[in-house]
Formats: sequence, C-alpha cells, structure tokens
Amino acid sequence: MRRRDFSGPDDLRAMQAMCSRLWSPAARFHPGQLAWNRYHQPVDPALPGPGEAISLWRRGDEVVAFGWAEAPDWLEYQLDPAYPEVGQDLLEWFEDWSDAGTQSVLAMHDDVLESDLAAAGFMPERAGPYFVHHLLDLARLSAMPAVDGYSLRHLEPGEAGARATCHAASWSGLGRSRMTATAYAALMRAWPYRHDLDWVAIDSAGGIVASALVWFDPATGVGLLEPVGCVPAHRGHGLAAAVSLAALHHLRGLGADVALVTARGDDAYPGPRRLYQRLGFRPGARTVTWTRSLL
Ligand SMILES: CC(C)(COP(=O)(O)OP(=O)(O)OC[C@H]1O[C@@H](n2cnc3c(N)ncnc32)[C@H](O)[C@@H]1OP(=O)(O)O)[C@@H](O)C(=O)NCCC(=O)NCCS
Repeated sequence: MRRRDFSGPDDLRAMQAMCSRLWSPAARFHPGQLAWNRYHQPVDPALPGPGEAISLWRRGDEVVAFGWAEAPDWLEYQLDPAYPEVGQDLLEWFEDWSDAGTQSVLAMHDDVLESDLAAAGFMPERAGPYFVHHLLDLARLSAMPAVDGYSLRHLEPGEAGARATCHAASWSGLGRSRMTATAYAALMRAWPYRHDLDWVAIDSAGGIVASALVWFDPATGVGLLEPVGCVPAHRGHGLAAAVSLAALHHLRGLGADVALVTARGDDAYPGPRRLYQRLGFRPGARTVTWTRSLL
C-alpha cells in the first residue's frame, strides 16, 4: 500500500475510477461529485485547492482510499471497505496535516471507517446538518411540465461565463460562491462533464436564470444531479424542477437507469429535499458528521 499526495488531474481521474468501481446507493461519492468539488472554485489543476490537502492510497495501480481535507477542521474521504486497515493511516495523515483544535469528518452512516473514528476520539453528532442520498428510477421519470415565459435548453461550449454568473447568483443567499468563468471553463473540461447534460432556463430577456447539471457515469449507469440553482428573482415558478427534469430526460436518453441527488436531510434547509422528492427522488443512505476536540 502506497500513499502519495495529490498531484493533478490524473489523480482526480484515479479517485473517480475508485468511486465508479465502488458505487452503491450508500457509497459516499459519485465520480461527478469529485469533479464538482474540485472545480467549483478556481484551482491550480496540479495542486489541492486553497487551504486543502488531498492524499491517495494505492494498491498496485488502483486507488483504494483518499482523504480530502477541505479545511483543517473538515475531512472528506472514501475508503474501499475491502481495505479497512487503511482507515487508521488516513486519520493519522489528517491529524498530521491539520492544526485545528476541533476536527470533523463526514462519513456515511455505517461506513467502514466508523470504528477508527471512534478509536481516534471522534463522536457522531446527534444534531446539526446532514445529507441524504436520494435515488430516482429513470423508468419512472415524470413528463416535462410547461413553463410559460421561459425556454429550456442545454448549455453550449462557449457559455462558461454566463453559466457561472447564474450559479453564483443562485447561491448568493448562502454565502459568496467561489465560482467564476475560469473555474466553470475548467469544470467543463473535467471528466465526466458533458454540456448536453448541463441544462438551463432562459428568460424573455435571454438571460440564464436557472440551471441543473447532471454527471453521467457510463460504467454504473448512474447520473448525479449536482448542482441545481435558480436566481432569487425567478424562484417559485417551477424552474428548478423543470430544468432538472429536462436534464434527467436527456440522461435517460443516454442509457442511464438511475439518478442520484444528495440533499440536506435536516429541517434547517428543507427546500431542495422537497424539490427533489417532488421530482420522484426517494431518500436512502445518510451522512453522519463525526467530531472531536483536541483542545
Ligand atoms: C432550491 C432552488 C433551486 C429552488 O428553485 P425554484 O425554481 O424556486 O424551485 P421550484 O419553483 O422548481 O420548486 C419546486 C418544488 O420545490 C419546492 N421548493 C423550492 N424551494 C423551496 C424552499 N426554499 N422551501 C420549500 N420548498 C421549496 C417548491 O415549493 C416546489 O414544490 P411544490 O411543487 O410542492 O410547491 C432555489 O431556491 C435555489 O437556487 N436555492 C439555492 C441553491 C440550492 O440550495 N440549490 C439546491 C441544492 S444543489
């Protein structure tokens, strides 16, 4: 088993291959989620993002675990359940890198890392935000609704700037989005991005006012919906639902069987969950945040 720090797009691709290989309804990451997490902000392709650390564990050519510390107090990871012995190394790597007095790790409920987390002094949080994977059998996809006054279409390759602006405006109420035209252009170059799965709603003035991005993994037949947004002035007209459905219909046309979306499960932010459940997504596996204090 070898550990090596992240060194560029080939490593991201190897991590995505691991997510693809291990995909199940309860697996932490779809490969599209890693592309989104990497490129939702401007980054040097060869380095972790600002304030981040990423490391990969390999057996032969295959990645069997990665740790992705998005900040000194926040670790994301995925660990192949066939190699539980890597769990302790992964937590020690994070501990060596992090200088935070309080540290949290986002795990799937019942994940293979739970015993190592408990042994290292992390405790599962009983309250606070958590995420629930929602699945939709695409054979049961609803028909497209009419949306008067707007048109729906997929993005074109030269529209990274307008698309980034829509994304940033949609997230404006939730803290400043770090998405820029340059970051979106990099996202569009990342596997498995396809512009024909990046759907937008256009208003009568020609502006992009809502968006839904789907990532299709042909190896599993699963498409991930991430993210969905509507700018505040156009909310409540069914645009997020319509643009998501349009992308999901196209996904089904490509041969996908299942769509996945991850939404907050706690009641502090119920809107997206309601949106996705209205589209037919059904809740499944959930995350648990494990936290410890070293102070
Ligand atoms: C969540 C968001 C995409 C909804 O956009 P929208 O165009 O207003 O949503 P729609 O009009 O298509 O609503 C579809 C359904 O979801 C429900 N819904 C949408 N936002 C809601 C909210 N904040 N609270 C409760 N329900 C909500 C709607 O009531 C509707 O259900 P109904 O048919 O039973 O009335 C938009 O508020 C947004 O961009 N938020 C910030 C980004 C975000 O959280 N994105 C989702 C996570 S990736």
